[in-house]
Amino acid sequence: MVGGRCGTAAVKRKARSQGTRQHAKCGPRQRRYNKKIRVHTLHTSRNMSSQAASAISDTSLAPLAPLVSRLPRVGTTIFTVMSALAAEKGAVNLGQGFPDFDCDPLLLDAVNDAMRAGHNQYPPMAGILPLRQAVSDKVASLYGRRYDPLTEITITAGATQAILTVVLCCVHPGDEVIVIEPVYDSYVPAIELAGGKPVFVQMEVGSDGYSVPWDKVAAAVTPKTRLIMVNSPHNPTGSIFDADDIAQLTAIVRGTQILVMSDEVYEHMVYDEHRHESACRHPELAERAFVVSSFGKTYHVTGWKIGYVAAPAMLSAEFRRVHQFNVFTVNTPMQYGLATYMEDPAPYLDLAPFYAHKRDLFREGLSGTRFKLLPSRGTYFQCVDYSAISDMPEAEFCRWLTTEIGVAAIPISAFYDQPRESGIVRFCFAKKDQTLRTALERLSRL
Ligand SMILES: Cc1ncc(COP(=O)(O)O)c(C=O)c1O
Repeated sequence: MVGGRCGTAAVKRKARSQGTRQHAKCGPRQRRYNKKIRVHTLHTSRNMSSQAASAISDTSLAPLAPLVSRLPRVGTTIFTVMSALAAEKGAVNLGQGFPDFDCDPLLLDAVNDAMRAGHNQYPPMAGILPLRQAVSDKVASLYGRRYDPLTEITITAGATQAILTVVLCCVHPGDEVIVIEPVYDSYVPAIELAGGKPVFVQMEVGSDGYSVPWDKVAAAVTPKTRLIMVNSPHNPTGSIFDADDIAQLTAIVRGTQILVMSDEVYEHMVYDEHRHESACRHPELAERAFVVSSFGKTYHVTGWKIGYVAAPAMLSAEFRRVHQFNVFTVNTPMQYGLATYMEDPAPYLDLAPFYAHKRDLFREGLSGTRFKLLPSRGTYFQCVDYSAISDMPEAEFCRWLTTEIGVAAIPISAFYDQPRESGIVRFCFAKKDQTLRTALERLSRL
């Protein structure tokens, strides 16, 4: 490297063995730079003990040790693997859980208008008041509980940041947190980052789909239990809580110090005659619940990463303490755009019929195959039992399906801490009808 910083690995190695003789080989610019460094080091070492100075020079020679990971068990997720494979094989990607269509142009206009109106600087830490007010109004009209927008609603950088912040604000090292498997992939790392201990309870699967065995959840409670994390409508199973689930959960936490994180990001995707049993509807549960939702899911803008947490003032205050040093604020123009767009409730009220149509199209198309369809009562996921087609493990079956049939899916085993095979995979039907038809044409061979 002529006239450069003589920084190649070979030169550095030689420099280490020859001390300062390397400088003879440097260009004039590098020599000036090295001189500056020598002068700086001289001044620094004059101002400290010779022991400290030699510690610095020793450290500069020591190679950087590998980091001790805070999350040693986390590797490349199956979602990344399957998406890469789908792209490589030209498969229809029904693995990834997000729409392949765009959002309402009116929402884009509202955000653009906000930018042009100069809403481009830091918003208040908890979110702009009009958006918090809009969330408060929506929750009150749908679930009957009025959260105070000033003290009980916080706008977050998507549900993922909300979930991490909930865990960080209430779980202390050694606390236990009950999670119900199959479980969304961010919960357990969040618990581990907080120094907590995840305690796993598995859902049961029968002819009517997946359900939570509340007796097992109750049995998992110990004096160390601090939080129970629940998710309805549920990713990946498409199951939903009914009033009995809520009653059982409420009975478990009654009279304890256990808090609840209720992940309701699919709250507007509940089908048929069912209704969404939000924790907000149930006063006793709501008193100890952080309710998390995501505008990304509701308005087909998963890439915007914006959501909210509704929780009683005491819980929200602690949430905000962590939130302010976690992200501090969430981007301003999206907040103004969403606040304006939410004046019309139709987009979230119409979401269930919109996705029910896609679910029905997909289920109808699969009905002639050997896949056994599990109920999909909520979310935009359809689980299928493929045991009549293959006895491959789930991840292998998904790879085969992607490579040989041309449709990507996600193995349910990816949502468990310990390997667990149930012969079930998840398809995402948040896709254009044409995408679903292409996938169905391919799957019809099975
Ligand atoms: C159950 C569940 N919770 C949380 C999230 C994260 O939502 P967001 O994209 O708003 O962070 C997802 C996204 O897939 C999810 O499925």
